[in-house]
Amino acid sequence: MNKIAVVGGAGRVGEAATLFLMQQHLAREVVVIDIHEGPAKGAALDIAESAPVFGSDVRVWGSSDYADLADSDIIIVTAGLPRKPGMSRSDLLDKNVAIMDQIADAAREHAPDGMMIVVANPVDVMTYRAWQRTGWPRNRVFGQAGVLDSARMACFLAEATGRSLADIDAMVLGGHGDQMVPMMRYTTVNGVPVANFLDPAKIDEIIERTRKGGAEVLQLRENSSAYMAPGASTVEMVESVVRDRGRLLPCVAILEGEYGHSNTAMGVPSILTRNGLERVVELELNDSERAEFEQSLASVEEDLARIK
Ligand code: 2OP
Repeated sequence: MNKIAVVGGAGRVGEAATLFLMQQHLAREVVVIDIHEGPAKGAALDIAESAPVFGSDVRVWGSSDYADLADSDIIIVTAGLPRKPGMSRSDLLDKNVAIMDQIADAAREHAPDGMMIVVANPVDVMTYRAWQRTGWPRNRVFGQAGVLDSARMACFLAEATGRSLADIDAMVLGGHGDQMVPMMRYTTVNGVPVANFLDPAKIDEIIERTRKGGAEVLQLRENSSAYMAPGASTVEMVESVVRDRGRLLPCVAILEGEYGHSNTAMGVPSILTRNGLERVVELELNDSERAEFEQSLASVEEDLARIK
């Protein structure tokens, strides 16, 4: 890959993602694009100036001009407004959809062969909108949520079991939010289901904490949502694409019949290669997982109804 653009890159998630892309040499250049020109250039400059320390020769630069998306191989979209007091969920949704439309139009014009990874919230809806508006095939438009939710759950499981994080495989599906679907049957310590290490009450507590993982960080920090783990999770997906690793990661995908649904966006296990989201992996869900999955989908659909 030659060029990755981070749109909304002067925000904290965008900055963290840019830093990790640079550290991991995932492109020849990373352009930080933000409607705020100074912050875009400043954030990029700060990261560019840390490149020598990391022995990285990735060129990082900033711009407020969408034309600088030109020829990007991957466009990471972190742009969007955070919810402010007094703002309804639908107000926020409408505003963020309008922002996404501008970015999607610019992407189509300046990087027609690019791939888009959506991080902006509500991510399921924004991913759907990006797909709808660009008209790109679903392998080139997908979103980040499950990697973050799974990472959070892995972190809590390592703490509770005392086992190494390196051995913990966590899997969270569904929409990003309170309705996410932690898949405990597929969550293991080196292949051994976590139920062997923790009692059901502790597992339930961890599921609940995972569902509210974003809110927990926001509450503690007071003035910022999480950005390190969201940035790192996004870059894990990029890495699988750039290095064509074919990793199986939970991604927000446009469903085309998988899990019995089409024309919608959901967090599902996906294979990421240099072609992007190469395919969705269908897991057999038991009755309670199916019920949770459908419930999660219904809440995403409620928002999607505004734009479909
Ligand atoms: C998070 O989960 C806000 O989606 C963001 O931290």
